[in-house]
Amino acid sequence: MKSLTIRRPDDWHLHLRDGDMLKGVTPESTRDFGRAIIMPNLVPPVVTKANAEAYRDRILAAIPEGADFEPLMTLYLTEATDPVDVIAASKAGLVKAVKLYPAGATTNSASGVRDFDKVRGVLEAMAEAGLPLCVHGEVTDADIDIFDREAVFIDRVLDPLRRSTPGLRVVMEHITTEEGVAYAASVGPDLGATITTHHLIINRNHILVGGIRPHYYCLPVAKREKHRLALRKAATSGDPTYFLGTDSAPHVDPLKETACGCAGVFSSTNTMSCLAHVFEENAALDKLEAFASLNGPAFYRLAPNDATITLEKQTDPVEYPAKIETGDGPVTVFDPGYPLHWRVV
Ligand code: NCD
Ligand code: ZN
Repeated sequence: MKSLTIRRPDDWHLHLRDGDMLKGVTPESTRDFGRAIIMPNLVPPVVTKANAEAYRDRILAAIPEGADFEPLMTLYLTEATDPVDVIAASKAGLVKAVKLYPAGATTNSASGVRDFDKVRGVLEAMAEAGLPLCVHGEVTDADIDIFDREAVFIDRVLDPLRRSTPGLRVVMEHITTEEGVAYAASVGPDLGATITTHHLIINRNHILVGGIRPHYYCLPVAKREKHRLALRKAATSGDPTYFLGTDSAPHVDPLKETACGCAGVFSSTNTMSCLAHVFEENAALDKLEAFASLNGPAFYRLAPNDATITLEKQTDPVEYPAKIETGDGPVTVFDPGYPLHWRVV
């Protein structure tokens, strides 16, 4: 039997939601992960230090007894965000990043930023404090094709934003294109990029060929095969620029399997099995620890977890539930489309 022991991984981009959904999905992350960067796109969003404190307490209450898990909180950047509040939340150790959603880019992003001049003061304070900005990198202009939104964002928004705010530390969230991989590689240690589990596994054909698959629909949408291959190369390279952010984003099945379905793939449950499969396929199992457990903490200037997890490869496929039952309804677990043999023991 093949086995692999690595530092306990972290998830640098996770949606835990609130209420019954929070209670239902939190154990799916705390089983394998030590920490997670918690996305603030609740309704209403987490915008102030006080909001983040209250949300953190609700998350802590949802963590199963005995689990070793720390939520790393973020604030949702709006045009009304107060730099003083942001810096206080960072200095208190509560908030580890601020999230930028271009208005209208994705689920619950209506309060996002339209006019970047309005957030200049916050960005300058963050640069000074070394507090990272996590960026949902898609333009929202109606005339830009959805498959081009990331590449256009890099040229029109991200690069000018970085140049006008020297020293700002940035995470390109859930990159999906070879342009994203290349831009991240071109910058240096003040820029990191997260990659999801599902974007290493599916391309746009998986969403659309042979019938529409709502559970593969997420934002940014999966792109062509050449982009998936670029993401695989980046993730399995060991390069410290790239680290795991699952973007696990639960929506109940009735909201996915409908005429206008929500964006989001839920992969917390089987991410480590999927990743071991992917890294083994790329002959890079020795780089899995860097991607899932070391590069993220290094970017966020935190120590890696002391604890470890062990993955074992078994002959029979690992059984995962097709759905997680939450108090809000069923949530379908990401299906990589092939049997998984690596299991966290
Ligand atoms: C996320 C969600 O549902 O909150 N959906 C998604 O497809 N990734 C929003 C996001 O992170 O873009
Ligand atoms: Zn997300």
